Amino acid sequence: MATTVDALTSKFQALTRLVGNTPLISIHFRYRGDHRVIYAKSEYLNFTGSIKDRMALRILQNAYAEGRIAAGHTIAEATSGNTGISFAAIGRIFGHPVKIFMPDWMSQERVQLIHSYGAEIVSVSRRDGGFVGCIQMCEDFAASRADVFLPRQFSNPANCEAHEQTTGPEIWSQLWSVGKKPLAFVAGVGTGGTVMGVGKFLRQRDPAVRIHPVEPAESPTLTTGCKVGNHRIQGISDEFIPEIVQLKELDEVIAVCDGDAILMAKKLASDLGLAVGISSGCNFLAAVITQEKIGPDAAVVTVFPDDNKKNLSTALMHVEPCRPDYLSAEIELLGLSTIGRACEFCG
Ligand SMILES: Cc1ncc(COP(=O)(O)O)c(C=O)c1O
Repeated sequence: MATTVDALTSKFQALTRLVGNTPLISIHFRYRGDHRVIYAKSEYLNFTGSIKDRMALRILQNAYAEGRIAAGHTIAEATSGNTGISFAAIGRIFGHPVKIFMPDWMSQERVQLIHSYGAEIVSVSRRDGGFVGCIQMCEDFAASRADVFLPRQFSNPANCEAHEQTTGPEIWSQLWSVGKKPLAFVAGVGTGGTVMGVGKFLRQRDPAVRIHPVEPAESPTLTTGCKVGNHRIQGISDEFIPEIVQLKELDEVIAVCDGDAILMAKKLASDLGLAVGISSGCNFLAAVITQEKIGPDAAVVTVFPDDNKKNLSTALMHVEPCRPDYLSAEIELLGLSTIGRACEFCG
């Protein structure tokens, strides 16, 4: 049955209320003798539990508006997990079959969640090409059929647009509501949609805002331009620099050790009840490093992309040794407060 315009509009309306507009959390902590605050968007509160819902929704909205997707088309994407979960869920709402090409080292929870939405997974080993292989297989699949829609999250400008038009404005108005302006924004780079889109919006408001991409110290793809080493921060640093990432428009790359990110994520859960994923621990540490450079009172903002539930079978639940150079050991978490959803301040 053809999808009517009214049915489409009401589905998009319903989803718009379930995606984005997340509270901003103020995390209070003591570091090197100072009482400090870092701000983080609670992106695990999105529809399927991650920041990727923003991008998936925007890409589908644009594709429908431009007539690039039709009823019955299969949505096919290469992803390390959260994007697959978003498209699997949102695709089902619109009645699309969904096929996900995913590296075989991603957590079992990610695989099971994608299956639970009825999507198909093609699992790709390192020997068969790893992440880059996933992208090629996805393109080959689309080339073999006429009824496939490719979101192409690594090159689609709608990915950045989602964050430029939602996450960025939300951060600005939430901080404004408490009389503050962001001095810096930091985010781990998977596709780079978050850092590029939020960065573009914040720089339009204030060209002096620092925008720092973040990568694992063990696998410095942004710094070296190629895949080096391995790391344990699922969702970021996928073996290549994505097309939408324009490093020359950003400030310097911040490196965080994956073990430190794991310890920080554990600490956010055990000390504050913020049960976040490893990339959130990584982003928090990158925010502290940035604040250390620009001043202890600087309003530095980041995102908590997902929660720990997709990481229960990963290193996040194992004992992680603390190295002397890790920052997480020096951070004493004191408490949190929240700045309400951005829509609460709009007319
Ligand atoms: C857990 C997690 N953190 C961070 C990111 C990076 O976000 P972006 O793709 O916008 O760079 C992703 C992306 O999939 C993710 O899944």
